[in-house]
Amino acid sequence: MSEIEQTSRSSTYDYSSMTGGRTMETFIGALFGVSLLATVGLGVTFWLGGQPQIEGALLFVALAGIGVGVVAWGKYLTPHGPFVQEREELKSSDVDRDAFYKSLERGTKVLGRRSFLGKMLGVSLGAFGILQLFPFLRSLGPVPGKSLYVTDWKNGSQVTKVDGSPVTVNDLEVGGAMTVFPEGFIGNAVDQVILVRPSNFNLVTRPGRETWGPQGYLAFSKVCTHAGCPVGLYQELTQQLLCPCHQSLFDVLTGATPVFGPAPRPLPQLPLSVDTNGVLRSQSGFNEPIGPGFWERGNG
Ligand code: FES
Repeated sequence: MSEIEQTSRSSTYDYSSMTGGRTMETFIGALFGVSLLATVGLGVTFWLGGQPQIEGALLFVALAGIGVGVVAWGKYLTPHGPFVQEREELKSSDVDRDAFYKSLERGTKVLGRRSFLGKMLGVSLGAFGILQLFPFLRSLGPVPGKSLYVTDWKNGSQVTKVDGSPVTVNDLEVGGAMTVFPEGFIGNAVDQVILVRPSNFNLVTRPGRETWGPQGYLAFSKVCTHAGCPVGLYQELTQQLLCPCHQSLFDVLTGATPVFGPAPRPLPQLPLSVDTNGVLRSQSGFNEPIGPGFWERGNG
């Protein structure tokens, strides 16, 4: 029988050095693992505000881990050919069959490891893909945190004008109004308060607020409870505050209760006191959340 030279790609890679093969598989798996950790670290760093040098280093490690792992996989763990085999007859011998079956069994174990590597690669690429969403999420703006419902008014806060000077009991005539802030927080939107003086005498807007209106001064959050516009117009004749956005009216003498418009609840009242120098101060923060309903998650 003439000799037949057959050229084919081998279907059974030489795993005679199985220990070395497994070492390489472990190494590649570790590369994918490092890439995954770097991707998670990159996401956390980005979410916490970002730091360009750290982000650059983690991005390099994440991409390098995947790249080197894939290259090593292709170079060391996939069959290479072509292989040349000479044989006299096409029919396999019993010896060849036994060798094939053994090789096949060995291959099953190897495929199991390859499945692990495939999953590791998939997880690494998946995590990296999810990371691409972060810039989009970041573009939605900063997380509000507590800034929407915690104010800076505290026990003893000095009531301060927009120019930074303290408000004394002589600063407003009866019928007057002004915008004030706690000392040190001038211009802070959640802290803005409308200060009015309907009377010269102590005022009680509701039971439990007997000491909140010394010498006729009343203070209310300026953040409208409808949609957050600044309530600013004080109408002395009717003792009402007007929100210019949707014309909600709040009755000052009953604790800024809404009497007209879409505002669903009163403006929170700030308890006031007068210190020994005649300066207005707050007795505490607000005892209820300020602003619209979607801010109602804590106390001011
Ligand atoms: S925001 Fe004040 S009435 Fe709408």
